[in-house]
Amino acid sequence: MRTQVAIIGAGPAGLLLAHLLRLRGIESVVIEARSRDYVEHRVRAGVLEQGTVDTLTDAGVGERMLREGLVHHGIELRFGGQGHRIAFEKLVPGRAITVYGQQEVVKDLIAARLEAGGEILFEVADVVPEEFGGPSPQVSFTHEGERKVIQADFIAGCDGFHGVCRDTIPAGVLTFFDKEYPFGWLGVLADVAPSSEELIYSSNARGFALHSMRSPTLSRFYLQVAPDEDIANWPDDRIWDELAARLETVPGWSLAAGPVLEKGITAMRSFVAEPMQHGRLYLAGDAAHIVPPTGAKGLNLAAFDVTVLTEALAAWYASGEGSLLDGYSQACLRRVWRAQHFSWWMTTLLHSFGSYDAYDRRLQESYRDYVCTSDAASTSLAENYVGLGRYRSPA
Ligand code: APR
Ligand code: PHB
Repeated sequence: MRTQVAIIGAGPAGLLLAHLLRLRGIESVVIEARSRDYVEHRVRAGVLEQGTVDTLTDAGVGERMLREGLVHHGIELRFGGQGHRIAFEKLVPGRAITVYGQQEVVKDLIAARLEAGGEILFEVADVVPEEFGGPSPQVSFTHEGERKVIQADFIAGCDGFHGVCRDTIPAGVLTFFDKEYPFGWLGVLADVAPSSEELIYSSNARGFALHSMRSPTLSRFYLQVAPDEDIANWPDDRIWDELAARLETVPGWSLAAGPVLEKGITAMRSFVAEPMQHGRLYLAGDAAHIVPPTGAKGLNLAAFDVTVLTEALAAWYASGEGSLLDGYSQACLRRVWRAQHFSWWMTTLLHSFGSYDAYDRRLQESYRDYVCTSDAASTSLAENYVGLGRYRSPA
């Protein structure tokens, strides 16, 4: 099998890359370890920045997102017995977020690719990216019981945090930056209308809770739990009691409960691999970096990486010009680190840390107060949350 770009992983990064490349007349083959049904139903984050919405719309895959996605012009921070709205329309006029599940983006991208006659091989195993130090990289893998090889000009490692691509880069080439948090998130999808029109990020002495949503009839919640917490300790009644204890902290507001459709626990960590490339292998999305979900940045970073990679590959195919490819990692990492900082900062602002002493808790309270009362501080939160554009270079 021969193609121009071999793409490993059919998450948002790999699928969007394949689509953007096709629009530039560049062929690719996508290979994915899981089944189509699995990737289409894996519940992940659901907040799209304005830039991600624009990218999907401009690429012709935004039709259902524009119809079904929920456009939000603010979020609520809730602590100290009060709610504080971060009003995007006032602080960052003209910019908003769209609440639309990641698996819906994945479904739309798979449908677009198959409709255009593009290839995705699902349920591949033993994937090995090879020879990417030279001009003729290839990927070997097992599919339908047979060993196969794709020869390509380039390999895109879009295989997520637990993928194989990053680990096949020779030792010593990459530097890793890593931080683990002393908690995880228990995520819940519930068949009940949201109790709020906007997302609520709430924190009290029991810990952090987030009220999000997927549609006018589906709610999504998260609870801060111990990092090694066992989901078996969380029967539905306990989840609803804890959500109420952490969210019903302002007078007159109550949480509507309903049937739990899905629940699971994820650890929280921050991670960056630098550079995001080696030879003809380019890492994009979670394969290169992950953030704790508090800032809702993971999917948006993945979308940004692949727009940069598309421009670079298009320039190379148009004229043999390789400078954009050489600068791929650098072009991505500035935004990656801004999102790293913002995600770490939101996480620190909103969670309870067992290690905090009385002094640390006072600092956290002071910062919460500042974010809610200073336009400068809340604008900083708002502009990072909706997503910085191609922000100014330092003079
Ligand atoms: N071979 C082929 N596919 C693989 C392999 C492999 N060896 N290892 C992993 N994969 C697949 C996974 O099954 C998954 O479908 O690669 C895909 C990676 O997708 P994601 O993990 O979704 O990562 P990415 O596309 O970078 O999306 C960015 O945004 O909301 C965040 O973290 C969240 O997944 C999200 C991310
Ligand atoms: C979600 O709806 O899944 C979601 C929303 C906001 C976050 C994280 C996850 O910060």
